Amino acid sequence: MKTDPFAFDIIAPDFIPSQYDNHIERRLSAMAGQYADSTALAAVLAESDPLLYQVYELRRPPVAGELLHGISIVHPGKIGDEYFMTKGHFHQVIDTAELYYCLKGRGFMVMETPEGESRVESLRPGRALYVPPRWAHRSVNASLDQDLVTFFIYPGNAGHDYGTIEQQGFRKLVVERDGNPVIIDNPRWLPPK
Ligand code: F6R
Ligand code: ZN
Repeated sequence: MKTDPFAFDIIAPDFIPSQYDNHIERRLSAMAGQYADSTALAAVLAESDPLLYQVYELRRPPVAGELLHGISIVHPGKIGDEYFMTKGHFHQVIDTAELYYCLKGRGFMVMETPEGESRVESLRPGRALYVPPRWAHRSVNASLDQDLVTFFIYPGNAGHDYGTIEQQGFRKLVVERDGNPVIIDNPRWLPPK
């Protein structure tokens, strides 16, 4: 499929792209199993189903030479002491990388390989982050009063594998302790077989 060059704007304060062709809204009910505190989770869901994050994608054909890109906005909030976060995934074509650039907010990218290696990098405006091939990734908003906004770019053929993380979780969690974000071990993480 031939595409002409195109340009668009991503402008403060909300950074919603001036053009996009897919808008995803992820609510708590769609990722309830990922939060560690099931009592806090049930209490929140009994009252409402909060919007955790939104993604604005500029879709591209699913081939290696294309670059899918867009904006991810994780809203502020917590379930128990665990901050709002994305579902997180491996890429279906696991050898595909992704580049993130943080435009707004404070947070972390939690990453791990299928072998159980784990890394957590901070995100703040002006910071670029490279997620290498084979690293699952999840963004966490560690601020309770502003959105975490990132621009992302990855190969058009990458696809998403959500199931692995849904089953085993990430090895590390980001939680609030005495008003500050702290990285802890996930008690429910399942090590690789
Ligand atoms: C794409 C990518 C991001 C995320 C977005 C939402 O490969 O990493 O665009 O898709 O931040 O997170 P998920 O997809 O984990 O719900
Ligand atoms: Zn990704």
